[in-house]
Amino acid sequence: MMGHINNLVVEMVRDSLGAEAVDRLFAEAGLEARRYQPEVIYPEEEFQALFRGAQAVFGVAADAAEEAFAGYFMKRSPEMFPAIFEQAGSARGLIERIPTIHRNFPASASQGDYRDKVVITESRPERIVLHYMSPNQLCETLQHVAKITLDYFGERGAVRETSCQKDGAPHCNIVVEFHGAKEPVGA
Ligand code: HEM
Repeated sequence: MMGHINNLVVEMVRDSLGAEAVDRLFAEAGLEARRYQPEVIYPEEEFQALFRGAQAVFGVAADAAEEAFAGYFMKRSPEMFPAIFEQAGSARGLIERIPTIHRNFPASASQGDYRDKVVITESRPERIVLHYMSPNQLCETLQHVAKITLDYFGERGAVRETSCQKDGAPHCNIVVEFHGAKEPVGA
């Protein structure tokens, strides 16, 4: 996992619970406290340990941690990468760009270690189908991020998972539907 995501886990804990909780996070994870290079790919086990550590300091189960992380990710991402959101212009525009965003993120030194985890297998105006395959099993995060993306762009839509790696499927199959702009309030 790229250091950018590891840093976001650490920052979520710091923003919600304070600096002292970050020490507990690394202790729970069994890792030395550190800052990650955003564009370097670190071992997946390190991310998994950090995420388990975050669950422990928040005292929540994995699904609640994924929902919280998705919210944090979508709060910070437009602040950190405004141009990506501007260029995407719509929920569909952002979802369609995921593989390119991810592929272009790692530093050249890490490019050889990069593997696509989110791929688009169908792209039509009204829906996009994603395959997600990862040892990190963040399909709940993916779905929450997709839902928040619809909200961010003021759109209606639906997100559902039709098969899941956690149930033994070769990949998670996630369908995102685009139903157009939300009605203005009071209309
Ligand atoms: C500004 C937009 C975005 C940026 C900068 C970004 C960046 C990243 C980066 C750097 C990673 C680490 C990838 C790796 O190490 O393999 C990642 C992972 C991930 N991203 Fe994005 N992303 C963006 C948008 C999205 C969107 C819109 C979704 C879903 C709707 C998404 C879903 C995911 C998921 C599920 C992972 C975890 C992959 C794993 O299992 O390790 N991302 N993202």
